[in-house]
Amino acid sequence: MAKRGMQEAPVHGRRVLVRVDFNVPQEPNGQVADDRRIVEALPTLNHLRAAGARTILMSHLGRPEGHKDPRFSLRPVARRLSALLGQPVPVAGDTVGIEALELSARLQNGQFLLLENLRFHPGEEANDPAFAAQLARLGEVFIEDAFGTVHRAHASTVGVPRRLPSFAGLLVEREVHELSRLVTSPSRPYAVVVGGAKVKDKLPLLTSFLGRADRLLIGGALANPFLAVSGAPLGASPVEPGLEGAVTDFLRAAESARTEVLLPTDVVVDHPGHSEAEVYPLGQIPSDAVALDIGPETRSRFIAALAGTNTVFWNGPLGRAEDPRFAEGTRSVLGSLAGVPGFHVAAGGDSARLAHDLGVTGGFQFVSTGGGAALEFVQGLELPGLAVLPDA
Ligand code: 3PG
Repeated sequence: MAKRGMQEAPVHGRRVLVRVDFNVPQEPNGQVADDRRIVEALPTLNHLRAAGARTILMSHLGRPEGHKDPRFSLRPVARRLSALLGQPVPVAGDTVGIEALELSARLQNGQFLLLENLRFHPGEEANDPAFAAQLARLGEVFIEDAFGTVHRAHASTVGVPRRLPSFAGLLVEREVHELSRLVTSPSRPYAVVVGGAKVKDKLPLLTSFLGRADRLLIGGALANPFLAVSGAPLGASPVEPGLEGAVTDFLRAAESARTEVLLPTDVVVDHPGHSEAEVYPLGQIPSDAVALDIGPETRSRFIAALAGTNTVFWNGPLGRAEDPRFAEGTRSVLGSLAGVPGFHVAAGGDSARLAHDLGVTGGFQFVSTGGGAALEFVQGLELPGLAVLPDA
């Protein structure tokens, strides 16, 4: 699975085009709300600076859908990056064209240039060959370090590497190395915790673990369609419609694959007219109450199920964790991981922020910078931005 690494790339005095994922959460005023993805790119950038490369960085931010939209400008990112690198990082006002060409040609060894948001151009997401060729003209060597975007077949992630000698950056190498431990012979018992809302989106992920993981722990609104097929009344809790067949098939497949599926046996509800959150066992949820967290019995079962494991993959909250009344399930189960020896991985910055906000950091040995990309990787799917890079 390993890809040719950037240590082998001839970068001294060369224009090196680096795809980074600076798609960071923004404050309402456009400022960087969480710089983790920028910080995680620093090892690659420091390596290039020390090696005397002339580095041209390209990224997307948000989904401006092919239009130049100042709300998605990368200038605030450039300011944060300059501070982290301790040297100015100018921004080329357009991603391609004369200005970008001139600024990249004028770079000195050890300097950086950041191109404006790739997605200001429709050619990026369409993987338009003409746009990819314009980007490729800016550099002599390509480095893929945007792990969070390698599941997208866009001009910057597949079009450019087809046109330039290409290498994996240090972040991509690390992500591939760590996440591979979940795919290739994970140390067992192996448990997967999945929360969140949409079953339709998460069913392929859950299915991919049948037979590969020993236990699947399902919480959040995601659990509702599974509980509904057992006939348990769920009060006014939302249940995604039209999934009975798929969920029943999944539970049957889990049984044949001998993958244990753990679902909530009690829940914490929001009950109109009652200011405090209330706990109900499954089967006794009042008709007007909405389940928003796993209950204390479920917490204990989940914590016990994780205690004896060697590998844990975590994705998503087990309830409405942003509301303190419904955060205890996620907080206690996540918090228990810190006391469990083994290899624990979370996907996406959301999980890292969640753990931080709930005051229970320390449970993960690795937090991927990828959201969708990490989920596709752990399913064993081919990611176009990795497939296009030469193997090590
Ligand atoms: C992400 O945040 O998952 C990546 O940056 C990809 O963004 P996208 O889902 O808008 O393609």
